[in-house]
Amino acid sequence: MNILLTGGMGYIGSHTATLLLNMGHQLHIYDNLCNSNIDTLDRIKKITSKEVGFTQGDIRDTKKLTEVLINEKIDAVIHLAGLKAVGESTQKPIEYYANNVQGSISLIQAMQAANIRTLVFSSSATVYGDPIYLPYDEEHPTSPTNPYGRNKLQIEEMLLDLANSDNTWSIARLRYFNPVGAHESGLIGEDPNGIPNNLMPVIGQVVDGRLPMLNIFGDDYDTPDGTGKRDYIHVMDLAEGHLAALTWLKGNLGCHTFNLGSGNSVSVLELLHCFENISGNKIPYQVVARRPGDLPEYYAKADKAAKILGWQTKRNLTDICNSSWLWFQNSKNKKST
Ligand code: NAD
Ligand code: UD1
Repeated sequence: MNILLTGGMGYIGSHTATLLLNMGHQLHIYDNLCNSNIDTLDRIKKITSKEVGFTQGDIRDTKKLTEVLINEKIDAVIHLAGLKAVGESTQKPIEYYANNVQGSISLIQAMQAANIRTLVFSSSATVYGDPIYLPYDEEHPTSPTNPYGRNKLQIEEMLLDLANSDNTWSIARLRYFNPVGAHESGLIGEDPNGIPNNLMPVIGQVVDGRLPMLNIFGDDYDTPDGTGKRDYIHVMDLAEGHLAALTWLKGNLGCHTFNLGSGNSVSVLELLHCFENISGNKIPYQVVARRPGDLPEYYAKADKAAKILGWQTKRNLTDICNSSWLWFQNSKNKKST
């Protein structure tokens, strides 16, 4: 298949790119590099020993996007491009709506112009909001609590309206839980600019000395050790979820929603201790106040993806910590050279 990957230079996109290339697909990445680095392209090529096309462009540039879709004879699109920081989305909501919602409208218009009707969309478990019950299944009511989550939900709803209005579309809305880990080569991983918000990148910055310690946001939750519990999913499992969805969509019309998670939850302290054991590093931490908006626990009911897509996670917490540790060591070397 000829696949266009919007946002393919980013964390999830670059890992997905290596998998798709290794599975024999032709790939073209479309990214404006607002949260990624051109070096990643060489790393993808190095991991796969395959050629990969790249266009630097904004998804809101419908004309450019249409030209790429037509010129590259694209069959299907995986749409990962977007801004993703929850806190920032509350400070710059219009920037988020413009980039994420307007950008997705532009992509759909370009796909219509290029007569492409197969789309996999990166959504998030954040669309569910406060849990009414756990685990979240795909039927759980949606009620996101921040602009980023509302962007995702609006795009999801737009895609459903689109599929209802035109029965030639095949769309998968993938709701990711907490992506972590890195490629087993140690060549690509998550390395956000500035001070990260998410747990694993914070641990990475403590390891390489950019941050003095980890602040644990509360140890008085109603969980066994008092710290928050999440459904962490290895980024290569997530990559495999995209491939499974894309393959399945080829024989199925309409708009479909799948949770991509492991179905289990792990606490902050459990993850920290696993990482410490694997890396042999003691991670200094202090317990601070709860972070506003954090939930005690959430995790996926992942049965639908298993039953319909034949996909489930294969990697465990040890794999997650091993690959993260390798990536942290490699990226530290990269920074000091
Ligand atoms: P990322 O920031 O590493 O990658 C996103 C990529 O999109 C970047 O390379 C960025 O340069 C590009 N981009 C952003 N806006 C663009 C635009 N207007 N035009 C072209 N390119 C643009 O993020 P990620 O973690 O890889 O996430 C990928 C997708 O998955 C995002 O849509 C995100 O919302 C979604 N998601 C991520 C998580 C997570 O925890 N990482 C969880 C749920 C959903
Ligand atoms: C966050 C986003 C969510 C997004 C998800 C993707 C918020 C409110 N939600 O979820 O929309 O889909 O990332 O990965 O931002 N923690 C600490 N110290 C830290 C960082 C985190 O103790 O420095 C704890 C948190 O309290 C939480 C757990 O670690 O219990 C995971 O946090 P994080 O990685 O930020 O993910 P989420 O909050 O689940």
